[in-house]
Amino acid sequence: MGMADVQILLVSGSTRGGSINTAVLRTARAVAPPGVTGVLYEGLTDLPAFNPDEDREPVHGAVTWMRDVFRTADAVLFCTPEYAGSLPGSFKNLLDWTVGNGDLYGKPVAWVNVAAEGRGEGAHAALATVLGYVGAVMIEPACVRLPIPRHAVGPDGKVVGSTLRAHLTEILITMALAVQTSTAI
Ligand SMILES: Cc1cc2nc3c(=O)[nH]c(=O)nc-3n(C[C@H](O)[C@H](O)[C@H](O)COP(=O)(O)O)c2cc1C
Repeated sequence: MGMADVQILLVSGSTRGGSINTAVLRTARAVAPPGVTGVLYEGLTDLPAFNPDEDREPVHGAVTWMRDVFRTADAVLFCTPEYAGSLPGSFKNLLDWTVGNGDLYGKPVAWVNVAAEGRGEGAHAALATVLGYVGAVMIEPACVRLPIPRHAVGPDGKVVGSTLRAHLTEILITMALAVQTSTAI
């Protein structure tokens, strides 16, 4: 079975210009296999602070746009740093906007942890809790640790290294196959 038009949304938990997590997702977009399109979500800093009172029509434009790109995506790949033993606040803010509206309910998802060996566990435990809470479907074999040192990010904002690139292609293939299997039933 070939892959056709699987869209994978790439969501970084970092707002930093030189972010390693964003660089990894930018690289994933560049090495997507045929039939798979990686779409980088770049609206994290545009989202207003979550407020249940404002989670009703007319909702903030940045929230509408975020919801549109999540709805269009067949799957979502998260790549987030750890802040103070947990998720960065602005990323958790995005996730809070998805809770009441069910934007991630039933959505196939995966994560890549690029922190050094033994680091980032708190962030990923928190992410797993939230994704479970919102009813996302974890694609377990696509969830991996790929420790990336800061100097591995090249001047083009992508990660240098053919092994890492091959791993990212493999992750996207695993995710696309999971999407196709779940929609084929
Ligand atoms: C406010 C803040 C808190 C951090 N807390 C942790 C932490 O608890 N555990 C950890 O392993 N790294 C922590 N770090 C280090 C970041 O995870 C690390 O710098 C990472 O590369 C940032 O991701 P980015 O390059 O995608 O922005 C922290 C960094 C910042 C700025």
